[in-house]
Amino acid sequence: MSQQEQIYLTPMPVRIWHWLNAFGIVTLCITGAQIRFPEFVNLFGTYKAAIRLHNTAGVVVSISFGLWLFYYLFIARTLAKIYIPSLDDLKEGLFRQGVYYFFAYFFGYPNPHEATPDNKFNPLQKAAYLMIMLVLLPLVIASGILLMNVDPLRGWIILLGGLKLLVGSHFLIACMFCAFLFTHIYLATLGHTPFAHFKPMWTGWEKVEHSGEQK
Ligand code: HEM
Repeated sequence: MSQQEQIYLTPMPVRIWHWLNAFGIVTLCITGAQIRFPEFVNLFGTYKAAIRLHNTAGVVVSISFGLWLFYYLFIARTLAKIYIPSLDDLKEGLFRQGVYYFFAYFFGYPNPHEATPDNKFNPLQKAAYLMIMLVLLPLVIASGILLMNVDPLRGWIILLGGLKLLVGSHFLIACMFCAFLFTHIYLATLGHTPFAHFKPMWTGWEKVEHSGEQK
């Protein structure tokens, strides 16, 4: 028999960070598209307006990333526990979760991962979030800071291979963010109802079914 329970999964600082960050990244993707392809995209009036909004969203995302890191490292102190995949996650968990998303989910099998506050992400989420939050976000922020300060930081830019390489890398990482966004939103709809995983991102509380489906 399946039992339902409410667990407090997402603390308020993480929720505030998440929606500020999501809004910022979406703004960055849209303004970035206008900056990169001005002949096809013109949503913000002038080219200069798109750059100004892009830079502002970049600063918001950078500051909120700093607060997110501070919160997980020094207040919650759960960054390693929550975000780093275990050996078992790498050996079997990734495969198990992949089979669930690509196959078992469509036949109504339960999710192999049970979320708890100490282990809230399944192995695929851990791998993806770790890559996004601790590799790609720092890289896109660092390259963005360099691009916003080409003159004062020219020495660093030359050391890293030049402006062309920097612009190309910044764009490539931005494309990865767009790909992540679509996958992230799709996978977030695979709860017992399409909005089951969105609710805890607003309220903090997630409804969990023991020995039944849950994310
Ligand atoms: C409109 C855009 C977005 C929507 C609708 C959205 C939706 C969600 C939802 C429903 C969850 C909770 C379920 C889950 O853990 O999968 C979540 C968690 C998460 N999302 Fe997003 N997301 C968006 C953008 C982003 C972006 C741009 C990033 C990173 C750059 C991101 C990173 C994360 C992370 C790291 C978590 C786990 C947070 C934690 O509990 O520590 N999301 N998102």
